[in-house]
Amino acid sequence: MPPVLDENVLVGLTTSDDAAVYRINDELAVVLTVDYFTPLVDDPYDFGRIAAANALSDAYAMGANPVIALNLVGFPSRDMPLTIMKEILRGGSDIAAPAGVSIVGGHSIDDPEPKYGMVVLGFARPAEIITNAAAKPGDVLLLTKPIGTGVIATAIKNDIAPPEVVERAVEMMTTLNKSASEAMKRVGANSCTDVTGFGLLGHLHEMTWASGVGGVVDCAAVPIIEGALPLIEQDMSPGGAYRNLEFLENCGVVEWNAGLNEQRKLLLVDPQTSGGLLIAVSEERADRMISELHRAGVPVVARIGRIVADTDRRIVVSEGQV
Ligand code: CO
Ligand code: CO
Ligand code: CO
Repeated sequence: MPPVLDENVLVGLTTSDDAAVYRINDELAVVLTVDYFTPLVDDPYDFGRIAAANALSDAYAMGANPVIALNLVGFPSRDMPLTIMKEILRGGSDIAAPAGVSIVGGHSIDDPEPKYGMVVLGFARPAEIITNAAAKPGDVLLLTKPIGTGVIATAIKNDIAPPEVVERAVEMMTTLNKSASEAMKRVGANSCTDVTGFGLLGHLHEMTWASGVGGVVDCAAVPIIEGALPLIEQDMSPGGAYRNLEFLENCGVVEWNAGLNEQRKLLLVDPQTSGGLLIAVSEERADRMISELHRAGVPVVARIGRIVADTDRRIVVSEGQV
């Protein structure tokens, strides 16, 4: 892509951030993002809810307040009853409503495979934008949802996912990152991103790379959706996890110090859908951030590691105290 020259583009292509940010004036910036994908659960209503929560998440990760959205729909209208599309869209609007987001339009095309997602527009004060490029050595790393949705989605495709595990994953994926984002803004974070397709370590790598720092992750502290581990032992890691792992190994940025087997490594790069926020907060504010997130009803608040000074921008995965 050619470089962006407009100086009002505060966040563009260079830092692999979650959303683009355009300054209107010193008090106001527009935050713009898009996400859509193919169904990962069988129920069209749940698929719609997951896709909408996932699309909104990129705005929340930047500390922005999303306000309007456009639906993006691909649908095989000749081969599938339209009631399925209606259910997908009903799911999307049932997530947008409590988020305070109005769906104001959209676009659909005929597509052999259903797809759904949203273009999301939000606002933020330019000074309060939280990017993935400002983590500082000494920061504490917090994660606000357990991981494992990629493994569970693969198990669903292979018809071996226990219903209660699917239910837990759907519950996580349909939980908005709104209250986590608002709590984060009240306390003040240095850096944030949401954990999605590149997995926990992939998104941490984007943060450490963009911030010019290293990271240490305590693998024992990383929360995992209950029931995901037995599925990973049945080789349910999706292709994306293997690609993420290969990418990080080729970059040479991850140091495995914890004697993890291949399956546990794959879990740390398991592609997430509508994952939690990965927050880098200063040590002084960390305890207050944790209690504020709890008070906001955030499902999981895990202290998973630290940011460290490292010009090579490595991520060290260890076990125990970090
Ligand atoms: Co994101
Ligand atoms: Co995205
Ligand atoms: Co149109």
